Amino acid sequence: MKTQESDQSLVDDICAKHGFEASLLIEILHDLQDNVGFIPDHLLSNLAKALNVTRAEIHGVVSFYEDFKTQKPSKLQIKICRGEACQSVGANFLLESANALANGKNVDIEPVYCLGNCALAPAVEIDGTMVGRANRMTIASKILTGKFEGQSE
Ligand code: FES
Repeated sequence: MKTQESDQSLVDDICAKHGFEASLLIEILHDLQDNVGFIPDHLLSNLAKALNVTRAEIHGVVSFYEDFKTQKPSKLQIKICRGEACQSVGANFLLESANALANGKNVDIEPVYCLGNCALAPAVEIDGTMVGRANRMTIASKILTGKFEGQSE
């Protein structure tokens, strides 16, 4: 179980990497999110203390940027590209299918705009793994079985 001291210690360690520079708040928040998986509300006060800014200032930044998650992420994270190249080869259908498949399951489906994999559109990212030429079965097998289509382990 995490204690208040360990919370402050984690925040202090991350802030120290950035010289306790409040101007580097976005980088600090990314590091915190990488460590914890999201930005827990109770750590905003720790951050404010470490950076000598108000909690409201930090909350403003966290709530402004979509990249920062304030809730513990679901078990499975699926990003589906809705960029132009992916839309032209069925990304919207893929998104609708994924949302229907994920309904009631512990899965986050997030539409994004260009994963940098346009040549292999439609592109999706599943738990950090880039998948090109994705189709409904790619996503369905991962949501329903936890494995990629054809994956044997
Ligand atoms: S438009 Fe989908 S990866 Fe670039």
